[in-house]
This record gives sequence, structure tokens and C-alpha cells, in this order.
Amino acid sequence: MAAEVVVVGSCMTDLVSLTTRLPKAGETILGHKFFVGFGGKGANQCVQSARLGAKTSLICKVGNDSFGNDYVDNLKKNGISTGQNVIVIVPGANLLLNFEDLKRASDVICKAKVVVCQLEVTPAVSLEALKMARASGVKTLFNPAPALADLDPQFYTYSDIFCCNETEAEILTGIPVGNLEDAKKVGCMLLERGCKFVIVTLGAEGCMMISEDEPIAKHVPAGKVRAVDTTGAGDSFVGALAFYLAYYPKLSMEEMIRKSNCVASVSIQALGTQSSYPYRKDLPQDLF
Ligand SMILES: Nc1ncnc2c1ncn2[C@@H]1O[C@H](COP(=O)(O)OP(=O)(O)OP(=O)(O)O)[C@@H](O)[C@H]1O
Ligand SMILES: *[C@@H]1O[C@H](CO)[C@@H](O)[C@H](O)[C@H]1NC(C)=O
Ligand SMILES: *[C@@H]1O[C@H](CO)[C@@H](O)[C@H](O)[C@H]1NC(C)=O
Repeated sequence: MAAEVVVVGSCMTDLVSLTTRLPKAGETILGHKFFVGFGGKGANQCVQSARLGAKTSLICKVGNDSFGNDYVDNLKKNGISTGQNVIVIVPGANLLLNFEDLKRASDVICKAKVVVCQLEVTPAVSLEALKMARASGVKTLFNPAPALADLDPQFYTYSDIFCCNETEAEILTGIPVGNLEDAKKVGCMLLERGCKFVIVTLGAEGCMMISEDEPIAKHVPAGKVRAVDTTGAGDSFVGALAFYLAYYPKLSMEEMIRKSNCVASVSIQALGTQSSYPYRKDLPQDLF
């Protein structure tokens, strides 16, 4: 059966040590904890979507080393289809994902309900994936992270939904986002560049949304929760949104965003990135 949510993006292994302070140049200090985490925006978003119950596929590239092999095991454990592994023996494998790889995955991309892209792989490859999806009538969800000041303007026109955070919005528009009014302003500016729908995530404030059909920005607040670790909240949000777009297409965008806020706000109440992403069974059932 075809994957409904297809993510074209990155896998990263996070090597994390906890210390009381940062070392100065040339200094060695003791850390009191060390752990390895699975990260990378593409994989994070895919994992969150899968944990909500989406049938997912991740188009990515990993190195042929212990990190790459462990990562593929991690994806399998999360029920994510990676298909034929493409293995290369170099670091920075993410940047080696190329047009040829996309061509080989074209069947998966074109049969998806939603294709999700970010900017941790070569931007031209992300853009091509969005174009392939659009050409097949597949919904495109683009998260311009990490932000590029000189983003190719075609990213706007090929994004059905353009979802960024405050920092990314500032880099793209030049306007710092300090309050809801600023968020409205940047939302309008980004919409005018040709996307159908813009979401600016605002941390504890939830999101600002604005659409081509109803170009009046609307605030969708998040619930009040006690934040433990907000790392990866944005990816949890995007992964959840991809799930709702694929499986609940009749919901209004506002309702999908409200539900995605709920999922992301659960993710910030536990430590880590993927390790904090909730499973469907652990969430309030009215989200489904
Ligand atoms: N303190 C919070 N309380 C409730 N919800 C939150 C909080 N922080 C984040 N969220 C939820 O997560 C979503 C994404 O958060 P944010 O805008 O901080 O993304 P981000 O900056 O890309 O995240 P990060 O870079 O930390 O992974 C928000 O839209 C909201 O739904
Ligand atoms: C991966 O590396 C191992 C050696 O570490 C080698 O035997 C194997 O052929 C490599 N696989 C690919 C697909 O290159
Ligand atoms: C937005 O996301 C980027 C990663 O793409 C992160 O570095 C930045 O801190 C985030 N901004 C906010 C306000 O959380």
C-alpha cells in the first residue's frame, strides 16, 4: 500500500552532552551526561506523523557507517518505509540526496496524499520534490528550515502550505516577529509571494494562519502546558499537520492547526526530540 505522507528530507544523529557551561576555546571540561538522539528535521517530521498512525515513507540518504545503519533501524522501529537503502560512505550524506534519487522514488512521491520538505537537504532537491508532487496533484507542505535569506521564490508558488517559525519568518521578510501583529504582517507578506496558505508557528502562542481564500490572518492559540524541553516542537507540529492533511482532509485548516498545536505541546513536556514525540494511543482520543 502506498504511503500517504511522504517526507523528502534529512536524518541527523545528535550527540548530546550536558555540561554546566560551554567550554572556552581550547578548554576541556567534564560533562555529566552523554546520549545519542535521532534527529534531522525530515526524519523528525516523518516520525511524528507515523506515531499518529500515518503510513509514511522517508526519502533520505544516510552514510554506510554505524550512525547510518542505526538510523535505518530507528526508522524501521517507527514503522517508516525507507524502501531500498541507498548507502554511501561519506559524512554529510544528506547533501548527496539528488535528482536521480527523487526519480527513483517518483512512484512513492506521486502516490502520496501529502509531500513534506525542509531545507536540510540540497534546496534544489527539495524544490524538485515539491514540483513532482504538485504535478501529480499531491498536496505540498514546505517548512523552510533552516531558513535561507535568498530562498528561491519558486518555493512559495510550489507550497500549498508554507509553515515557518518566527526566526525563519524574520530571515525571509526582514521583519522581526515580536508579537501577534508582527506575525500577521509577515504572514501576509509570505502569502503575497504566492503560497496558498501560510502558518507562522509562535511557540507558546501557538500559530498565526492566513490563506489565499481568506486573506485575514487568524491566531490559533496553543494550550497552556509546562515546558520541559521544546527541542523539536516545530517538527512535531509539521509532522502532525501532515498526518491531519492526509487522513482528515475534510477538517478545516484551523481545526487541523489546533490539533497539531495539541500534539506539539505534548512533545515539549518530555526530554529529547524524537523521544518526546507522542504516540496516538497516548493522546486525547478527541484528536482523532
Ligand atoms: N511553550 C509552549 N506551550 C505550548 N505549545 C508550544 C510551546 N512551545 C511550542 N509549542 C507548540 O509547538 C509549535 C512549534 O513551536 P515553535 O514555534 O517554537 O517551533 P520551532 O521554533 O520550530 O521549534 P524548535 O526550533 O524548538 O524545534 C507551536 O506552534 C505550538 O503548537
Ligand atoms: C558498507 O560497508 C561495508 C564495510 O563496512 C561493506 O562491506 C558494504 O559493502 C558497504 N555497503 C555498501 C552498500 O556500500
Ligand atoms: C526556529 O527554527 C530554527 C531551526 O530551523 C531554530 O534555530 C530557531 O531557534 C527557531 N526559532 C524559534 C523562535 O524558536
